[in-house]
Amino acid sequence: MTVTNRQIHLVRRPQGAPTEDCFALVEEALGDPGPGCVLVKNLFLSLDPYMRGRMDDAKSYAVPQALNQTMQGATAGEVLASNHPGFAKGDKVAAKFGLGWQTHAIVEGEKVLKVDASKVPLSYYVGLLGMPGATAWYGTRRILDPQPGQTLAVTAATGAVGGVVAQLARLAGARVVGFAGGAAKCDYAVKELGMDACIDYKASDWKEAFKAATPGGVDRVFENVGGAIFDAILGRMNAFGRVAVCGLISSYNGEPTPIANVRSILVNKLMIQGFIISDHLELWPQAHRELGELVVAGKLKYRETVARGLENAPRAFLGMLKGENFGKQVVAL
Ligand SMILES: NC(=O)c1ccc[n+]([C@@H]2O[C@H](COP(=O)([O-])OP(=O)(O)OC[C@H]3O[C@@H](n4cnc5c(N)ncnc54)[C@H](OP(=O)(O)O)[C@@H]3O)[C@@H](O)[C@H]2O)c1
Repeated sequence: MTVTNRQIHLVRRPQGAPTEDCFALVEEALGDPGPGCVLVKNLFLSLDPYMRGRMDDAKSYAVPQALNQTMQGATAGEVLASNHPGFAKGDKVAAKFGLGWQTHAIVEGEKVLKVDASKVPLSYYVGLLGMPGATAWYGTRRILDPQPGQTLAVTAATGAVGGVVAQLARLAGARVVGFAGGAAKCDYAVKELGMDACIDYKASDWKEAFKAATPGGVDRVFENVGGAIFDAILGRMNAFGRVAVCGLISSYNGEPTPIANVRSILVNKLMIQGFIISDHLELWPQAHRELGELVVAGKLKYRETVARGLENAPRAFLGMLKGENFGKQVVAL
């Protein structure tokens, strides 16, 4: 069997905000899988903010995305042909570290996991039951551990990570105040995700609205954004508050991130913990088991924005960085 594999390569590193000409569509022919390997057709590709960081040639927790190579990324798909005893044609699989922005791949069987797509959609394995879900679970449960009566603030609150954080915190009995861009997202945060309040940070009076929504201050913070929003939250912290720094998306294109309320860290004796979820792979199965049970039981809502076609992945990625996604951004290939 020969298939045409379509890939998106990174061909140029961005200066500031990335543009579509940083990417190029490339084709190659793939033959039969060799011994121990499977040929996978990717059906879903995850688009994640961390990919922006890897486009830079800068020191970070992970090596930069190589130029003229397939963009890295989590995928879920099905086996088209197998030369591995553990897999058969038609098996649904998710790749442990993703097969990247491409329609097909030949990989060693050990690099993919068989998944059950009968109770949840296959696409959930790159989101809720993939890296973003594990991130939300770890930061909420293992770092913040919100308690009944406490107020938890979460930024990018309707996104892949934030939406799950908010619901886990509500299930733990905490009061949840989210931040999201625009009235539609804030409406959804309150009416569908059950947040007690959601601040539209694009509205001119967002600081006053945040103050009004947190009369007793803030005890727990799940920070996804940074910048002025993080600064405002720091200014409302209660003593012995905890902050999980998960992401700083407002500065991923190199924007400055001035923080004025540094004094709050000292006077409120805050615990601030940054984390990268790939350091905690041993907890992913537990996180995914719990999140899977919650979503199947109807206790957790999960929303996706689906772009269609590999050729539209760059545009969808740039849109996600600007908040055009509503929930987890995936591409159906
Ligand atoms: N530490 C880790 O291991 C780890 C793992 C996964 C994700 N993360 C981080 O978690 C955060 C959320 O990731 P995600 O996958 O769940 O993405 P997401 O929230 O689904 O999508 C990104 C969202 O960021 C918001 N945003 C973009 N620019 C912003 C700005 N200047 N100010 C305020 N909000 C802005 C947008 O929402 P609005 O429309 O509401 O503005 C956008 O929808 C990111 O910072 C990401 O890097 C960290």
